[in-house]
Amino acid sequence: MPGLFLSLEGIDGSGKSTQGRLLAERLRAAGHAVTLTREPGGSPGAEEIRRLVLEGHVDRWSAETEILLFTAARRDHLEKTIRPALARDEIVITDRFADSTRVFQGLARGDLTETVNRLHDLMIGIEPDLTLLFDLDPAVGLARATARPGAELRFEDMGLAFQERARAGFLALAAQNARFRVIDADADAETVGARAWAAVAPHLPQA
Ligand code: TYD
Repeated sequence: MPGLFLSLEGIDGSGKSTQGRLLAERLRAAGHAVTLTREPGGSPGAEEIRRLVLEGHVDRWSAETEILLFTAARRDHLEKTIRPALARDEIVITDRFADSTRVFQGLARGDLTETVNRLHDLMIGIEPDLTLLFDLDPAVGLARATARPGAELRFEDMGLAFQERARAGFLALAAQNARFRVIDADADAETVGARAWAAVAPHLPQA
C-alpha cells in the first residue's frame, strides 16, 4: 500500500494527542499531505460508537463486548478514512489503533489476546508501518488525564492498577514488534516532540 501509516499509542494522559498535532504540523510544513485521525472514532460512524464506549459507568460493557465495539469502529474508520487517505499517498497518523485493543481489552482485564487477534485478522488485517509508544509513569498520566474537562472517563475510572497493567502490556508489545519505537514521554511537549520526530524522520517518503 502507498503512503505511510503511523500510529500513536500509550496509556491515558501520555500526551500522544498533543504529539500527534505537533507531528502533523511539522510534516505539513515539510510539504507532506497528512491525515490526522483518532480512535475510537475518525469517521462519522465510528465517532458514534466512541460515545458508547467512552462514556458511562465502568461496568457498562464487558471486555468481550468492548472488543466487538472497538473493532466495529475500527473497521468503519479503516474503510472511510484510513484506506482512502493511504490510497491518496498521504501520511496517516492515527491517535490509537489495534494495539490499544490488544492492551486495554486483550491484556489489562484478563487474557483475551487470542480473541482480539483473531477478530483483528478477520476484520482489520493491517498493521501500521510505524508505531510510536509514548511511555510514561501511569500516576503522572492519570493525573493529567483526569484533570481534563469532559465526560470520556470510563477507562480513567478503571484506576491506577489498570493503567499500570496497560503500560506493561504496551511495553511487552513493543519488545515483540519491530514496528514500535518507545518514546520517553516524561518531558515537556517540545522535548518529546523532538524525540518523536527523530523516530519518524527515517521513514518519511520524499515530500
Ligand atoms: P483516547 O481518546 O486516546 O484518550 P486519551 O486522549 O485520554 O489517551 O482514548 C480513549 C480511551 O479508549 C482510552 O482510555 C483507551 C480506550 N481504548 C480502548 O480501550 N481500546 C481501544 O481499542 C481504543 C482505540 C481505545
